[in-house]
Amino acid sequence: MLIAQLSDVHVGGGRYRDDLLRDAIAEINDAGPDLVVVAGDLTDDGYGDQYPAAKEELAALACEHVVYVPGNHDARNVGYLRYEETFGSRDRRMQLRLDGREIAVVAVDSSKPDLDEGEIGREHYGWIEEGFRHAPNLRLFVCHHHLMPIPGTGRERNQVLDAGDVLALLRRCEVDLVLSGHRHVPYVWPVAGMLLVHSGTVSTLRLRGFPEPAYNLIRLDDERISIELCVPGGGRRSLGDYRREWPEDLSAPNSDPFSRPPRGPILADD
Ligand SMILES: [Fe+2]
Ligand SMILES: [Fe+2]
Repeated sequence: MLIAQLSDVHVGGGRYRDDLLRDAIAEINDAGPDLVVVAGDLTDDGYGDQYPAAKEELAALACEHVVYVPGNHDARNVGYLRYEETFGSRDRRMQLRLDGREIAVVAVDSSKPDLDEGEIGREHYGWIEEGFRHAPNLRLFVCHHHLMPIPGTGRERNQVLDAGDVLALLRRCEVDLVLSGHRHVPYVWPVAGMLLVHSGTVSTLRLRGFPEPAYNLIRLDDERISIELCVPGGGRRSLGDYRREWPEDLSAPNSDPFSRPPRGPILADD
């Protein structure tokens, strides 16, 4: 099974390069992924002219299943409303059958209007948990902001405000992969049974610790998850090849020392 992960497109920005995006999409289409995740910052400022342009470019993705979430740049200037008009719901739960596997995808808008900082928000926790309840093969969580600090990005300011609670929640849900963007630095953190996989910026020259635009190709089988970093029109390198199953003493899904009362009604039940 193959997942393509791209993010930080920044259509309309000063350092946006449409040739990079087109190269990346052509390469992704050639690779024929089962699922494509576009992990936020589709536009540079959320403006009304940037959304149709982003949609038009991203429509070239040939994959049947494409999951989008907004990023902090998309939520600027009331862009979160234009996002909904253009790409649909900002939060999404999906059950997919891909390559013979049952996949649960929970994608959450971690942005807040006109802030660079992100938050998942406790009102989402029950909804997230429910989205992962019936997925035997693979659980994917998608949000724009990162849950762990990313090296090579300067001073850490934008990790989601409730990162600790969300990491514990995702571990309890036995999530396999967390796919994020935001810092424009490709990086993988293996944490407590999960791989937190971050894509770089696919189509801008807003670069930090990693000097080239990039997206990820993630290959999965029953035993391994391997992540390949791809430079549009350029080189490729491995971001790691990991075992699917973590030893119980490292993933430790039930070792959380905090006690939590059962949650009340969740948003989806209103
Ligand atoms: Fe970005
Ligand atoms: Fe961002």
